[in-house]
Amino acid sequence: MTEPLAFHRMIDADQRKASAEFRERMRTRRTVRHFSPEPAPIELIEDAVRCAASAPSGANQQPWRFVVVADPDLKRRIREAAEAEERENYERRFPDEWLHALEPFETDWHKEHLEIAPYVIVVFRIDYGVEDSRRLKHYYVAESVGIATGFLLAALHWSGLATLVHTPSPMGFLNHVLERPANERPFLVIPVGYPASGARVPVLHKKELREVMLVR
Ligand SMILES: Cc1cc2nc3c(=O)[nH]c(=O)nc-3n(C[C@H](O)[C@H](O)[C@H](O)COP(=O)(O)O)c2cc1C
Repeated sequence: MTEPLAFHRMIDADQRKASAEFRERMRTRRTVRHFSPEPAPIELIEDAVRCAASAPSGANQQPWRFVVVADPDLKRRIREAAEAEERENYERRFPDEWLHALEPFETDWHKEHLEIAPYVIVVFRIDYGVEDSRRLKHYYVAESVGIATGFLLAALHWSGLATLVHTPSPMGFLNHVLERPANERPFLVIPVGYPASGARVPVLHKKELREVMLVR
């Protein structure tokens, strides 16, 4: 079954303007590691998740779950478990090479943002479906969830919210704390909110177009 494509053909000048506006807005997105406890409207989160859920996915299987954690007690439990893993990482598991790569970000095992930010969105990948207790194979799960998370980050930034992409590896504790089934696997943890006043970010260089794009 098909339906007519709703495609809005823009005039050339509008296309260029829209493209430049989006590029400039996205250029101001930065990973924020110091959050304000100020609340943010849940409608902004809902809209951003709607946007993420509109992403393309392998066979349209939409193999994602976005668990929006606002409850202080759950956020505290996530922080405690994440800090336990991160402490192991920083003090024992991370090789020197990785610790060296992390130096510019001045990160350590303390993850207070997991409690301070008004929301922590935990993105799960759904590795397989379950239908009548049979497993349904999912295709291109990592690609699909990665694209959807990109949509999510762009939408949150577009609506004036700050984000941090966090990977407190291993993340298995999130299934337990958030009561998710075995076919759902934590993918990324994303604190969302407003930056703390005076928040600073590392000076980073982004590769130039000529370094990342080839035209053949
Ligand atoms: C998959 C992924 C995992 C990341 N994990 C962490 C993390 O665990 N802790 C952290 O502070 N930042 C993490 N980051 C944020 C990166 O350090 C950050 O995106 C990068 O330094 C570029 O900075 P920018 O986002 O401000 O452009 C992660 C980013 C990605 C894409």
